Amino acid sequence: MRKNTPIEYDVVQKHIKECNLKNVGNASIREIKRLINLIEAETGIKFIRMEMGIPGIKPSEIAVKAEIEAMKEGVAGLYPELEGLPLLKHEISRFIKLFMNIDISSQNCVPTVGSINGAYLSFMVAGRRNMAKDTVLFLDPGFPVHKQLVKMLGLKQESIDVYNYRGDKLYKKLESVLKKGNISCLLYSNPNNPTWICFTEKELEIIGALSKKYDVIPVEDLAYFAMDFRKDLGNPGKPPYQVSVANYTDNYILLISSSKSFSYPGQRIGMLALSEKLSKTEYPELTKYYPSPNFAHALILGTLYATTAGTSHSAQYGLLAMLKQVNDGNASLIEPLKQYGKRAEIVKELFLKNGFQIVYDMDDKEPIADGFYFTISYPGYSGENLVSELIYYGISAISLNNTGSERTEGLRACVSLISDSQIPDLEIRLAKFKENNPL
Ligand SMILES: Cc1ncc(COP(=O)(O)O)c(C=O)c1O
Repeated sequence: MRKNTPIEYDVVQKHIKECNLKNVGNASIREIKRLINLIEAETGIKFIRMEMGIPGIKPSEIAVKAEIEAMKEGVAGLYPELEGLPLLKHEISRFIKLFMNIDISSQNCVPTVGSINGAYLSFMVAGRRNMAKDTVLFLDPGFPVHKQLVKMLGLKQESIDVYNYRGDKLYKKLESVLKKGNISCLLYSNPNNPTWICFTEKELEIIGALSKKYDVIPVEDLAYFAMDFRKDLGNPGKPPYQVSVANYTDNYILLISSSKSFSYPGQRIGMLALSEKLSKTEYPELTKYYPSPNFAHALILGTLYATTAGTSHSAQYGLLAMLKQVNDGNASLIEPLKQYGKRAEIVKELFLKNGFQIVYDMDDKEPIADGFYFTISYPGYSGENLVSELIYYGISAISLNNTGSERTEGLRACVSLISDSQIPDLEIRLAKFKENNPL
């Protein structure tokens, strides 16, 4: 007999069939999103939506205004420059200096169609610079889309789930992989999607030193730039700064998304910055694919040109306006984002109170911080089963499958779309889940 649950069994089953989902627990974010939209439409019951990392914050008015003005000026009628507007490049370079204390010339700062596009460009060129280095290494858990990109590019991939290799332990583990010589680049997000692990200076030093030793390009994915809320990373030109591998190697790529830290995902604009050294490096094997062996040339005039031919013209003006505002100290980068941390604290507490456990519970030697995501499990459930079971309770999330996690019991929960008014509902639904699944 099916237990009494907030969402009727038959309704959920009907839509699972309609969506053609053989295994809900293993569905992609977009598949879960579609399923929940249908169930919500039929039942009128609003889900606690934790499946997708969408910023729950309104986009900057100043950016929207800048885009409208640029459109009125007629930018839609002109191709944008491939490498980005000079003024925007200047502000990206300034941003990296002011919030990371890293020097990268504006020439090497390029807007991309979201940071996903920046990852694509990086994998493509790093993965073709030396045929012996045909593999991308992920420091996991990670963002499944990156893994899909590497697959689509016909490159190989390897993964290290870093949970058991924090601190000094990372050195030996990472070296055991890098010393094989097949790794072209390695990618990690910091803070990490899905676990919210934040690499320490020591770990970044290890990543930088070993990357240098084994000629590997670290691609640092800063999709959650400055969102380690334990530190006040929002003061331009003043420490503490966003930590980075750039302090420990001179051969790296930084990807900075505007989607979360600037609440601007809809315009699909991100930033890619190449270290000075990497931008000048020549890899003879690149001439198989590009007119020049130069890394920056292959990335910008080769790959970026042939794929997106630049980033939406008006979006560049929007990002420019936001960057200028925070660089000049006229708006706070992190103040609006702190609400995610506060909400995570409340939501996590409710899950813990109702028998759930945090899967990636420690960040090196400290308890995991409150941020945009967290990972949870419930005794007796695999991650996949838990995702599908929670749907009957009006709660949606995604499993850690496909993230490179070795912890198959877990799922990822994102707090960005939960409104304060939903907290009482969440409490009731979790209590019901616990009642139906006594420990
Ligand atoms: C770790 C990570 N990298 C990259 C992205 C993609 O960012 P963008 O929207 O700038 O393409 C995301 C989005 O969720 C992410 O979580």
